[in-house]
Amino acid sequence: MIPKIIELPKIYDKRGNLSFFENPNQLPFPIERTYWIYDVPGGEVRGSHAFKEQQEFIIALSGSFDVLIHNGKEEQRFSLNRSYYGLYIPKMFWRRMENFSTNSLALIVSDQPYNEDDYIRNFEEFKTLSDEK
Ligand code: TYD
Repeated sequence: MIPKIIELPKIYDKRGNLSFFENPNQLPFPIERTYWIYDVPGGEVRGSHAFKEQQEFIIALSGSFDVLIHNGKEEQRFSLNRSYYGLYIPKMFWRRMENFSTNSLALIVSDQPYNEDDYIRNFEEFKTLSDEK
């Protein structure tokens, strides 16, 4: 599995549009946890880490930001700026989030409960573990 943009249904309505995701139709994993990142001061960076096991799906519900994904060898930038698509990130990819616009809102769903032991917070350690895959 590699990181990929997942397009979500968009139900156009003159009363306002609606999008959604559910497992297994749009999302390749069952949701165990939901969190969101907001009120990010200009220039701040969030989420410089990888996960040993957990998978995530990130949506810019409001505003915009970039997600930089590193596979241990090269980096790829995904710009998220619409609420009807998101970025799926499998386990064992380094990711950082930056370029948050004012009032941006990042929604993140994961297939695991919060577990600090699942984090890899050191990039060199990530590269070593990634090479061993
Ligand atoms: P962290 O994942 O390091 O944030 P970011 O990826 O944006 O750098 O989490 C920041 C803090 O919040 C950390 O002390 C753990 C806590 N936290 C929880 O308690 N539960 C959660 O679901 C998350 C994502 C974080």
